[in-house]
Amino acid sequence: MILPEIEHVLIDEKEVDEIVSRLVQEIDRDYAGKDKKLLLLCILKGSVVFMGELMKRVTVPVEIDFMRVSSYAGGTKTSGTINIILDLYRKDLSSCDILIVEDIVDSGRTLSYLVNYLRLKGARTVRTVTLLDKPSRREVPFTPDYCGKQIEDLFVVGYGLDYNEKYRALPYIGVLKKEVYQS
Ligand code: IMP
Ligand code: MG
Repeated sequence: MILPEIEHVLIDEKEVDEIVSRLVQEIDRDYAGKDKKLLLLCILKGSVVFMGELMKRVTVPVEIDFMRVSSYAGGTKTSGTINIILDLYRKDLSSCDILIVEDIVDSGRTLSYLVNYLRLKGARTVRTVTLLDKPSRREVPFTPDYCGKQIEDLFVVGYGLDYNEKYRALPYIGVLKKEVYQS
């Protein structure tokens, strides 16, 4: 059933599944080997569904951790500054190969900030995987290492992504009707 607030389904469950499978293959290939310690770092809250799928499916040994940051001023607007609400506390960062798991890249500010932050904190390697990317929205240069799908400049919800904390539990990714956030 499609909610009435959804304009149309952009990526249905089957396509999300195919995208995740492809990303898992790429990650498995790149992080194989005894000298690696893959740490999947979920950026709360939007990445939680994507993270759950990735960690179930990768076959290389994996550890998980969480950070929470905010860049959104609320609604569909970003504030431009990144606040760390939940930090990463680990003593073994110098032996960790961090893969930041993000739901969507928009201005690029969150991930460019976090990659730099985690490198300065001493992580051995830092890469990024994003389910979705809106390259036309970039305000700072940033290219994710692994990208599920590039999309147009549309505000999307579902599969973890929200609008004012709603719609995260939808199993598909849908375009929110403009009247929902413009009224
Ligand atoms: P950036 O720092 O501008 O790249 O913002 C990335 C964050 O903005 C993501 O982690 C999302 O939380 C949020 N975001 C950007 N675009 C959307 C969208 O279309 N739907 C829901 N959240 C979004
Ligand atoms: Mg997010």
